[in-house]
Amino acid sequence: MNKSKTYTKDLYKNTKLSDELFADNIKDLYIWSEKYEKENNVKGLYKEHFKWVDSILEMKVIKLGRLQFEVLENIDDLSNVFEETKDFLFVNVHIREGEKLTPEECEKSYDMAINFYKSRGHKFSTVVFVCYSWLLSPNLKNILPEESNIIKFQEKYTFFSSNLNEKNPQIIERVFGNKSENIEDWEEGTNLQRKLKEEWKKGMRFPMTKGYFIKKI
Ligand SMILES: CC(C)(COP(=O)(O)OP(=O)(O)OC[C@H]1O[C@@H](n2cnc3c(N)ncnc32)[C@H](O)[C@@H]1OP(=O)(O)O)[C@@H](O)C(=O)NCCC(=O)NCCS
Repeated sequence: MNKSKTYTKDLYKNTKLSDELFADNIKDLYIWSEKYEKENNVKGLYKEHFKWVDSILEMKVIKLGRLQFEVLENIDDLSNVFEETKDFLFVNVHIREGEKLTPEECEKSYDMAINFYKSRGHKFSTVVFVCYSWLLSPNLKNILPEESNIIKFQEKYTFFSSNLNEKNPQIIERVFGNKSENIEDWEEGTNLQRKLKEEWKKGMRFPMTKGYFIKKI
């Protein structure tokens, strides 16, 4: 573990990124190991989180301010949306838990990402930010107020596609944090928890949704 930490710290140092930024990025490892420990009472990491943790250690995913970013090598289904992608940079956006998702912080973060990738020698005239998350689920508009951070976050994105075949809906895990099959056990501590539970019972669904927005430089 120490070896990886030193290796990643060197990557940050070589890119002239601050110790604060390194510390904030590396926090992700604690988040995922704490989740495992909380659920299993021993230290560990779920296999499905290995790839993600590796991306953090390799600095492929980087948290710049509120949001996390990752250059998309393969844009898959989105390639049909754009006729011409010369000088485009496609950047995946991830959202860590634990801090409010205010529009101001998100704006700062998108700008930080653009500057970061420029400084790393990427040449581009247009950035396409892509996000695939339950946070983009269109039905959230039916249960959250317009001024909520999640709805404000959604406003920038053009919805592209939703995954209608989710076996374990991520929204349930992220909002209720448990895997209880019994809906009556789902917490009702926040507005989102209350409304989501109510509408879920009536059959409304909130699939992981992919969206994008374009920023010309
Ligand atoms: C992204 C996140 C920070 C947004 O939270 P936020 O800034 O509070 O968002 P909003 O302002 O829209 O919240 C509106 C309401 O929903 C609640 N809410 C938002 N996200 C929630 C969550 N994951 N679980 C429970 N309640 C949540 C808020 O507490 C608020 O309720 P309140 O009015 O009772 O205070 C939060 O959802 C989070 O930490 N998610 C986990 C990370 C994640 O899912 N990432 C994406 C992976 S694909």
